[in-house]
Amino acid sequence: MRWPRGVDGLCFGGDYNPEQWPEETWHEDVALMREARVNLVSLGVFSWSAIEPRQGHTTFGWLDRVMDLLAENGIMAALATPTASPPPWFGLAYPDALPVWPDGTRLTHGSRDTYCPAAPAYRRAAVGIATALAQRYAGHPALAMWHVHNEYGTTCYCDHVAKAFRRWLRQRYTCLEALNEAWTTAFWSQRYGEWEEIGPPRATQYLGNPAQLLDFRRFLSGELFSCFSEQRAVLRELTPQVPVTTNFVFGDWVPVDHRRWAEDLDCVAIDHYPAVPGLPAAEHTAFHADLARSWAGGRPWLLMEQASSTVNASGRLVAKRPGEMARHTVAHVARGSRGAMFFQWRASRGGAEQHHAALVGHAGPGSRVFREAVDLGALLGRLAELDGATVEAPVAILWDAEAWWALLGPGLPSPDLDYLGALQAAHRALLRAGITADFAAPEADLRGYRLVLVPSLYLTSDQGATSVRRYVAGGGHVVVWYSSGVVDLDTRVWIGGHPGAFREVLGVRVEEFHPLLPSDSLPVVPDGASAAALGLAAAEQLTGRVWAEHVHCAGAEIVARYTAGQLAGLPAITRNEYGEGIAWYCSTGLDEADLARLIGAALARAGVTPPAGLPSPPSGVEIVLRRSGQIRWLCVLNHNDEPCSLPLAGTPFSAGSDLVTGSVVTTAAPDEAVIVPAGGIAVIRCE
Ligand code: GAL
Repeated sequence: MRWPRGVDGLCFGGDYNPEQWPEETWHEDVALMREARVNLVSLGVFSWSAIEPRQGHTTFGWLDRVMDLLAENGIMAALATPTASPPPWFGLAYPDALPVWPDGTRLTHGSRDTYCPAAPAYRRAAVGIATALAQRYAGHPALAMWHVHNEYGTTCYCDHVAKAFRRWLRQRYTCLEALNEAWTTAFWSQRYGEWEEIGPPRATQYLGNPAQLLDFRRFLSGELFSCFSEQRAVLRELTPQVPVTTNFVFGDWVPVDHRRWAEDLDCVAIDHYPAVPGLPAAEHTAFHADLARSWAGGRPWLLMEQASSTVNASGRLVAKRPGEMARHTVAHVARGSRGAMFFQWRASRGGAEQHHAALVGHAGPGSRVFREAVDLGALLGRLAELDGATVEAPVAILWDAEAWWALLGPGLPSPDLDYLGALQAAHRALLRAGITADFAAPEADLRGYRLVLVPSLYLTSDQGATSVRRYVAGGGHVVVWYSSGVVDLDTRVWIGGHPGAFREVLGVRVEEFHPLLPSDSLPVVPDGASAAALGLAAAEQLTGRVWAEHVHCAGAEIVARYTAGQLAGLPAITRNEYGEGIAWYCSTGLDEADLARLIGAALARAGVTPPAGLPSPPSGVEIVLRRSGQIRWLCVLNHNDEPCSLPLAGTPFSAGSDLVTGSVVTTAAPDEAVIVPAGGIAVIRCE
């Protein structure tokens, strides 16, 4: 099925909330949308109270007129089911369907996402409104796709949830003894004698049980997916030709295992808001786009929301610089997105997000952002041929939501263990080296990758451990970081020496953890020839922070040693030949430049270089290679304030054409280079 239905080329548009505006504005909206070549809008995401202002009383007239207006103007709709924000009457009619915090506080209406996902009244109402929408708009020419809900992620600790959690646990464990074993309830007298004794991890006196907390997230992920799939079932029944999706939100508060959900979606859609401006925002964009592509199994996916400004962690709005919106957009498209959508089309006059950036801001269309949006619409038209082409990614980083969640649990040996930070550092090092990475599940078939990075895979299943071992035995190369392979699926420690899951393949045995204080660092000095492999001069050393370990080699050779403190003289970095492959282990948190050295050495040993014989990009320049049959596209994003020059002579791109400028590219002579302007983009096509 081609999704979204009826949209040719790449999608461009955003959340459209016409219910916030008088009807005259809708006409201006569609005229401006046409000017910007908008072809898809997410419609009605928060429109429940406009559609059903009183229980059972629906007012679809306004939405009919909007859908008709869009169809008349050739604009398609990803029509939302508005179930992320039930109207005020809902909470009054069904107080038991309002969510409860871990401390027992029941929330009241006043914001959004105020519902309990396990409450029968909510589930009925959600399916009810989805059914009414599908009945009304089945066959409407503007209907391109269903956008179910918005950013599933709501948590609740009420009695409905407790009941559903117990049901889920009974299915998972069958008998209480198995649960008691998995949760190690012998500790602190937590043994359960009846299922009814078990509840969600509500507020308690001291540290909670890590296995219970992890299972609660697993359960919520499944419960929220049931909310989604109940709606999807009616949408599919009433509109079988229309694809159904939901937009993913990413964060440590989100109890959704996106990779597992993605296996069962018509298409993967993500929202992306970097919380930092500048180059880190570009790196954040590449990271999330690669995650989305990996969740989608390499198939096209869709950037459903982004903003024309950045909102940083303290809520401060940082305007994107001229050209930055286009670079973020093309970064997503280069990494496989079938287009780029924004939150939102027109900035709201009031409400909690009235100052959020939009494509049409409060100043109206006479603005830089709108002019850039018009240019972007035209550019996306020229990039449409990229859609569906394969993204070349020779390296994988292992990704597992459960490993992340386990590392957010209580009672860890250091508060500074940071799963996401470790993944981002690994991804950044590859990005800067011009290497695109996929994120793979630990239990996936890894044979297509030349190198696999394993940062902080704290929780590692039997299957994951076996998969890595087989991959290396068959000739693969891996780099494993500290705090990987420590606990199993039940968060129970793999005993006999760390990292239990990877001991054999790494040829090491870790006797003891030595977490470091934030103010501490340890010098790490390469052994013998390793210094050259790590790109170090004779007297140079690496620096370890956050963590160190008492490592024994059990077959591995020493690459570098600690040279100070209690661990002086002991291995810090090792390398093990296992079967046909090589497994590196790094027992400390290397500084960014040092980590890049280690990854660089592993890349070199695995024979990984930037694709198609391209040079490593200059600092601040991002490259991605796409391929479809004989055609290749090189996407170059220059995030710097100065032009960059890429020597492409001798590569397939020495003769081609740039889809951005329409110009012919010839860099046949060794001293000729492609110049990409400051903040500019090039997408060079060659056959
Ligand atoms: C998204 C959400 C939108 C809007 C946006 C603001 O997470 O889906 O509705 O709130 O954030 O950045």
